[in-house]
Amino acid sequence: MDNLDQLVASAMADFATASEPAKLEDAKARYLGKDGSLTALLKGLGKLPAEDRKAAGAAINVAKEQVESALSARREALRNAQLEVQLAAEALDVTLPGRGRGRGTLHPVMRSLDRIEQLFRSIGFDVADGPEIESDWHNFTALNTPENHPARSMHDTFYLQGVGGKVQEDVLLRTHTSPVQIRTMLAHVERYKHLETLPELRVICPGRVYRVDSDATHSPMFHQVEGLWIGEQVSFADLKGVVADFLRSFFESNDLNVRFRPSFFPFTEPSAEIDVAFMSGALEGRWLEIAGCGMVHPNVLRSGGFDPEKYVGFAFGMGPDRLTMLRYGVNDLRLFFEGDLRFLSQFH
Ligand code: PHE
Repeated sequence: MDNLDQLVASAMADFATASEPAKLEDAKARYLGKDGSLTALLKGLGKLPAEDRKAAGAAINVAKEQVESALSARREALRNAQLEVQLAAEALDVTLPGRGRGRGTLHPVMRSLDRIEQLFRSIGFDVADGPEIESDWHNFTALNTPENHPARSMHDTFYLQGVGGKVQEDVLLRTHTSPVQIRTMLAHVERYKHLETLPELRVICPGRVYRVDSDATHSPMFHQVEGLWIGEQVSFADLKGVVADFLRSFFESNDLNVRFRPSFFPFTEPSAEIDVAFMSGALEGRWLEIAGCGMVHPNVLRSGGFDPEKYVGFAFGMGPDRLTMLRYGVNDLRLFFEGDLRFLSQFH
């Protein structure tokens, strides 16, 4: 049956050239469909003489099986090809180096604050904090700076806007960490009110403060660390010793001069500014101001609930941003607060 062989051959050729499943199904219909040529041959069997029918039927069935198996082989091949294409499109090159995830580190100023806390804790200071939105009373009045006192204009204060845009005079962004002196004193007195003599109060208060100010050495937001030591026998000599020791530890250097220069603050009397000078390096011999300090004013002790006849103390307020600039040799304070990773990632 030559034409059966031909039919099988042509079906195989058609299947082989069908490049996608839909075309393959079209080709299938031409042979095995309702009007397909193989189907027509099977239907024609009835017209053959009875003696030929069996052999012809068997031959057609063999051909049909061949066509069907060629069809399923081709179907499978097309399915595989499609899968290959899909796999190639979704390929993942596992040998590519990953994008990585930047490892965060402490901000240089936070690192300084950690060091400062650690050093002061080692000599028996606690660490306290207070609110950045502060009352006028805590920020000024209780610190011996009554209304209309000229010292208030030393601080360019951010007052908070009240309802309707009115400036609310009694709520502000704290201009220094000194209000935490008042808060910790009041809490200390309350806590130990059952005792005849209060235990010594030794505390530092690190935190953010705000002033209307911006240039290479001033940022509208900056940090301070307040220090406060109150007891029955605390002297200016203790202040000098604590601060000078701290500075030498902080800078890990004995090559350091510390100077107390007379100054004025309403909340201390006498008052001084603390300058340091390095005896080597780029800044050799230049005096740099890093803190204000003094003996706590009697009025401030009174605001904090301490009897100024019985207790004395010293306080200081230093600038950890400035200390960080000196420690790392940075000359523009604003760099610390611009969030530029090119700058910050140098402190890993
Ligand atoms: N609060 C002062 C300032 O911000 C610094 C200071 C603190 C001075 C404590 C004396 C005692 O300038």
